[in-house]
Amino acid sequence: MLQTESCREIQARALELRRAGHSIALVPTMGFLHQGHLELMCRARQQADKVIVSIFVNPIQFGPNEDLDSYPRDLEGDLEKCAGVGVDLVFTPTPEELYPDRQFQTSVEVSRITRGLCGAGRPGHFKGVTTVVCKLFNLTQPDYAFFGEKDFQQLAVIRRMTEDLNFPIKIIGVPIVREEDGLALSSRNAYLSETERRDAPAIHEALKRARDLYRQGLHDSEKLLREAAEHIERRITSPCEIEYLKLCRADDLEEISGPVAGPAIILTAVRLGRTRLIDNLQLQP
Ligand code: PAJ
Repeated sequence: MLQTESCREIQARALELRRAGHSIALVPTMGFLHQGHLELMCRARQQADKVIVSIFVNPIQFGPNEDLDSYPRDLEGDLEKCAGVGVDLVFTPTPEELYPDRQFQTSVEVSRITRGLCGAGRPGHFKGVTTVVCKLFNLTQPDYAFFGEKDFQQLAVIRRMTEDLNFPIKIIGVPIVREEDGLALSSRNAYLSETERRDAPAIHEALKRARDLYRQGLHDSEKLLREAAEHIERRITSPCEIEYLKLCRADDLEEISGPVAGPAIILTAVRLGRTRLIDNLQLQP
């Protein structure tokens, strides 16, 4: 496995691989890798000849009051995990390498689909994501790029950008990997106190409650959301705030009001103490 911090080198290696006729899959990450990330890499391994993983805590997708400085990091452990699942190239740039001082002036922004949900509470976040992913696409020249459904809006935004900007890349979404008690794996779970960790599965339970009621024939979006919110409020004892809890159309993430018709997804962001957790669940099988 080759590791490099250099834009020039990763791009040269990727171009070499392409010229040799290999297909390439990219898995972008911010590191502190867990089984969710590794699942993306394993799928990538099955899909393409060569797998490139990027590990980069991208400063421009964090707001001024967010956790950039405290974001968990473990490069050595991450490299071992990548090697363990057969990754070929790991790109670990520094912020200066990707955003050279005073020179960097370009960004990529997707409009409508970034406005609601996480975009509403994190202004500028998706602009940071699409800008870095666009750079990673150009640096690694992938045929496939893998993203988790855990960040469902991010996946939809990347799909939109890829289509709108005509990247010749197939975007592949991977289902959420969860702990046994239902909590979606996340690097940020490392922030949770013991009590918060015990409370956290209530988020997934609440989404399942809405899905179960939907399957039993309750299609009124307000009632479904009320049931889910009540579950969170009832079951979580530590300080907690629901940032959003919404039912949206699964394809364009437009909010649903009134009865649910067609493929729908329930999405939430919950602050448990100082930790912001997101989760989602599609209502239809
Ligand atoms: P990060 O949070 O490290 O996540 C990297 C990828 O792993 C994302 O596509 C995310 O959806 C996926 N992932 C995280 N937890 C998962 C889980 N429990 N199950 C399945 N997939 C999971 O998302 C980012 O980094 C960044 O925004 C990035 C795309 C790298 C751009 O900086």
